[in-house]
Amino acid sequence: MERWSSNLGFLLATIGAAVGLGNIWRFSAVVGQNGGGAYLIPYLLAAFVLAVPLLVLELAIGRSVRTDVVSAFKSTDERFAPLGWVVVGGVLLILSYYLVLTGWVLSFLAAAISGTELVFTAFTDGWWPVVAFVVTTALTALVVDAGVKDGIERLVKLVMPLVFVLLAALAVYAATLDGFGDATAFLFTPDVRVLSDPGVWSAAVGQVFFSLSVGQGIMLTYGAYVGEDVDLVRSALLITVADIAVALLAGLVIFPVVFTFGLAPAAGTELAFTTLPRAFAALDAGSALPVGRLVAVGFFGLLFAAALTSAVSLLEVGVAAAQNAASWTRRRATVVLTSVVFVAGLPSALSYSAAHVSLAGAPVLDVLDESVGTYALPVSALLLLAAFLWVSPDARRVVKVELRGATVVARYVLPVVLVVITGAKLAGVARPAWSTLVSRTTTIGFVALVVALTGLLGAGWALRKRGRTQRFRRRRD
Ligand code: PHE
Repeated sequence: MERWSSNLGFLLATIGAAVGLGNIWRFSAVVGQNGGGAYLIPYLLAAFVLAVPLLVLELAIGRSVRTDVVSAFKSTDERFAPLGWVVVGGVLLILSYYLVLTGWVLSFLAAAISGTELVFTAFTDGWWPVVAFVVTTALTALVVDAGVKDGIERLVKLVMPLVFVLLAALAVYAATLDGFGDATAFLFTPDVRVLSDPGVWSAAVGQVFFSLSVGQGIMLTYGAYVGEDVDLVRSALLITVADIAVALLAGLVIFPVVFTFGLAPAAGTELAFTTLPRAFAALDAGSALPVGRLVAVGFFGLLFAAALTSAVSLLEVGVAAAQNAASWTRRRATVVLTSVVFVAGLPSALSYSAAHVSLAGAPVLDVLDESVGTYALPVSALLLLAAFLWVSPDARRVVKVELRGATVVARYVLPVVLVVITGAKLAGVARPAWSTLVSRTTTIGFVALVVALTGLLGAGWALRKRGRTQRFRRRRD
């Protein structure tokens, strides 16, 4: 089993997995749609009370069994291997459209570098989104193929510092804009009244879990490569603080621009691809330097770096599982899984291209985001909690050593919250978190999810006897 070469390598990799499109683009969209600072209280509570314990649980289980998600499930009970495949399947489906989004970012970066103006609607009327999807898929595969230390760790050591430096530089620049005051007021004026709004809570919990990549087996997979001496609670807190800091800093870059140009903060997903490029172009006007172009290159550059390190973590979950389950080499597992992800992602890529592939009137990408992107998160998190805190006493003991008193939160509070917010979303109480098309696609999305889950359970069932079975090792009591 490979290991991270250092504690810093591990932290940068997990922060790289967490920090992604979710922090910079989705966070600003969700904050904008949920009334700005009002939303911050539920967001911070969800992060530290709910997400941190789950983060620690995943890291602790990963380190204890030192294996992939599927084998970890199997170690609680042989019959649970199919559930591990459900988690892996969810992750790969998320990856399939995440790579499409990453492709858009890459295209906007290329346009900014070359100084061409890219209009979102014109862009998605052509074939570049598909070409970009091929490029981002290949890049992700190359990194994972190179391995934990030589691929993933090398990448994060190179690009994560860049992400922080670019973000800080952009925030300093944003502080000089006229809209900065309005932006800070919008972002940081808390409002206790929203605490009684279930929609805001649901959006906050969903956003925190998405943003931290928690409950998806990603942290479990990365935890398998962690050294014995690492303090997991401290690491989980550091990851969370870094993730939140990036989201807030991104807000401090995006909203001053939005307010300076009198644009709509509640534009949602469009914010990054239509609102901001327009604003960046306007920054150039009247200035001797190509400020807008520089800012655009910085912004899309950091967005691309952050997205790539997240995509890599998603693919690693599948590759680690396939390697063990089928006793494949890393190369073979990477080639096979990348092909699967590519085929699964093609309809999403085509849905925002000249082909305009749609499902019941909505772009396939939106359908996937509203089904898998929305429901795979709580479903996978619930499966992890069930297997490691309820079914297996050995696993529970491992988690308890790290979490101590907070085990209660993970064991009793988290499942209730997850069930309630998922139920609220299904019932249509909750606000759209990512896209504005929720109601139209929720039903088909849900049907698509059920079909996908059934298929995965079947596949997992067929594969359940393969691979090794791990044992939980207790470190100290
Ligand atoms: N957390 C990453 C982001 O913020 C990506 C991700 C989302 C990973 C959902 C896993 C699950 O963009």
